[in-house]
Amino acid sequence: MRKMTKGMVSALALTFGLASVAAAEDVEVLHWWTAGGEAAALNVLKEDLAKQGIGWVDMPVAGGGGEAAMTALSARVTAGDPPTAVQMLGFDITDWAEQGVLGNLDAVAGPEGWDNVIPAALQAFSKYDGHWIAAPVNVHSTNWVWISKAALDKTGLAAPTTWDELIAVLDKMKENGITPLAHGGQPWQDATVFDSLVLAQGTDFYKAAFIDLDPEALGGEKMAAAFDQLLKLRSYVDDNFSGRDWNLASAMVINGEAGMQVMGDWAKGEFLKAGQKPGEGFICIRFPGTQGAVTFNADQFAMFNVKGEEKVKAQLAMASAIESPSFQSAFNVVKGSVPARTDVPDTDFDDCGKKGIKDLAEANTNGTLFGSMAHGYGAPAAVKNATYDVITAAFNGEYTDGASAAAALKDAVAAAQ
Ligand code: GAL
Repeated sequence: MRKMTKGMVSALALTFGLASVAAAEDVEVLHWWTAGGEAAALNVLKEDLAKQGIGWVDMPVAGGGGEAAMTALSARVTAGDPPTAVQMLGFDITDWAEQGVLGNLDAVAGPEGWDNVIPAALQAFSKYDGHWIAAPVNVHSTNWVWISKAALDKTGLAAPTTWDELIAVLDKMKENGITPLAHGGQPWQDATVFDSLVLAQGTDFYKAAFIDLDPEALGGEKMAAAFDQLLKLRSYVDDNFSGRDWNLASAMVINGEAGMQVMGDWAKGEFLKAGQKPGEGFICIRFPGTQGAVTFNADQFAMFNVKGEEKVKAQLAMASAIESPSFQSAFNVVKGSVPARTDVPDTDFDDCGKKGIKDLAEANTNGTLFGSMAHGYGAPAAVKNATYDVITAAFNGEYTDGASAAAALKDAVAAAQ
């Protein structure tokens, strides 16, 4: 059950003429949560809404990172028939808000005090022109490594905390006859790995390059070093990496075929779904050199302008359900992410989840929390896609060295702006 004070419920009832916050209308939800762990988390949401009498019309568009989903969304909006609620990230939310097609969630956000409990870094994308336009459901972060405990134990080495230690572990895993690095060669996955490499060059550098889009940072020595490391990592993936889905790469670590995966914490959902536990089947570490910093991507549900009072009521009820503290805990425990509110206890979370919650709070306080470039929280889609192109080209050997890749990135970002 969601937690609302009686005052909040009656305020809503007054505003919307509701007997309770439950609405009979269905919500059509466009999302890309089709992998095992993602679907399990989505069920937590569906069931929570069902309890409140809100029906679910599913519009799944497979494809990690959501690019295909965003293409499907454009088609629906162009046809004048947007879904009720859409999973969305960062600058995509702002872009749709700018076009004036999103609804307004102030009627629930205000009485429920979202301003006080949702971190400012998220609010920057959940609000537009001072109004709430999206309900953040979680906070994922990209700078994680998921390591098979058995494969690590076999190396005789400790979990790596530096680049050199990481390379030593990868080399040993290779010697042991497994694929050291499980990877799926898709642009957003290449970019997810690159988020960590750039962050490891320094928090100021990450901000300068991917948030401020400073040409000197984009084309400079540190970027060249990050690309050189990307090329080095490339040497630890198997021959069949191209086009592989991220969850199949996770499965390689889960079944012992590969040693580790550099991926956001949605990967944890796959390990959990397979019955593995942190510290037993797998371990989670921050990407070596990024400890103390977090590159986040928060999934948010943006609500589109829809016709009909009942539909709007359902949107508000869904938004309210998403922000309920008990739902935030139940959902994120399964998804691998951490709550989008600062007041949710970590009691039900496993060790990786507890670490994620602590890391996020500390990074937020220390000014080392940054939007993920790879997941649309660094820059708008045009710049993100231009960045993807260069990273993927580099991963596939199109540049002789990191310096030429960095020079290409500088030019590509300039052209995309
Ligand atoms: C991310 C999203 C996650 C997860 C991942 C892989 O962009 O934030 O929730 O779904 O893609 O699909």
